Amino acid sequence: MKLRTIDASSLTPAEMQVYLHYAIAPRPICFVSTIDKNGEVNLSPFSFFNVFSVNPPICVFSPTSRARDNTTKHTLENVLEVPECVINIVNYDMVQQTYLTSMDYKKDVNEFSKAGFTELASDTVKPPRVAESTVQFECVVNDVISLGKSGGAGNLVIAEVKRIHINEAILDANGKIDPHKIDLVARLGGDWYCRITNDNLFKISKPTGRAGIGIGVDAFPKEVKYSTVLTGNDLGVLGLVETLPSDEEVRAFSLTDEMKELVNAAINGSRTLHLHLKAKQLLDDGRVMDAWKVLLM
Ligand SMILES: Cc1cc2nc3c(=O)[nH]c(=O)nc-3n(C[C@H](O)[C@H](O)[C@H](O)COP(=O)(O)O)c2cc1C
Repeated sequence: MKLRTIDASSLTPAEMQVYLHYAIAPRPICFVSTIDKNGEVNLSPFSFFNVFSVNPPICVFSPTSRARDNTTKHTLENVLEVPECVINIVNYDMVQQTYLTSMDYKKDVNEFSKAGFTELASDTVKPPRVAESTVQFECVVNDVISLGKSGGAGNLVIAEVKRIHINEAILDANGKIDPHKIDLVARLGGDWYCRITNDNLFKISKPTGRAGIGIGVDAFPKEVKYSTVLTGNDLGVLGLVETLPSDEEVRAFSLTDEMKELVNAAINGSRTLHLHLKAKQLLDDGRVMDAWKVLLM
């Protein structure tokens, strides 16, 4: 791998923004409704956003000052006046309308009307919810932390979740949010976005044993660690097991019909290559312990 190394101080803010936006992605989108002291409602998307604490339940988003003239965004002004907000989650069906609300409309423009969204009164805070959003978090703003004085400087809005509303259509049979149903979108660099579709969802299994801690790659025999067949992901999966199979288990597996032929073939050709190819196939089938038995033959 040939690395390009860049000193942060050599970049203009605009250049820095491109690297940050494209590399730190996908970013979830926080669609925030706020209200000012006169009751004017504002709605804007922010992808400098995430959850940072579960107990207390804290989300943080960051309206930066405008890079071109260092002015403050209405959302920031509003939470400083009325420290409350609703964080509405954006799904694919509403992403284009959401984008519309990011235009620099004047302070007295209500982006709910501008983009065609429906205001839904909140239970515990003054800003309304976005009725079209499938998850709505009513929050109080505990703190706002300024990260700088120049154009583009962030302002961390620390929002504590007080009430959650979830569209039941996105829940599974156990009442949990189903990643197949929520249809999330996220922001990448520039004009790029992504949609979480069924065909790009995958799971990473936890270690199943009592300790819940995998043995790790440094515990592997050398020829497995430096295999020319196994990928980094294969090593990661193999490293999740808590114990390696015993000599007896390895021997018993080598005598199965599935393995006999391969073991004989492997004696004639490159043994390690054959065994590693078989292990890889077993890993692809989710048979991690059998893959280990092959690797230890
Ligand atoms: C998907 C998306 C994500 C955005 N994320 C941010 C962000 O994290 N921080 C920010 O300052 N502006 C962000 N923007 C731009 C703001 O939404 C935009 O400046 C908006 O006009 C601010 O509105 P306000 O002045 O009414 O608060 C984003 C825009 C879009 C479309």
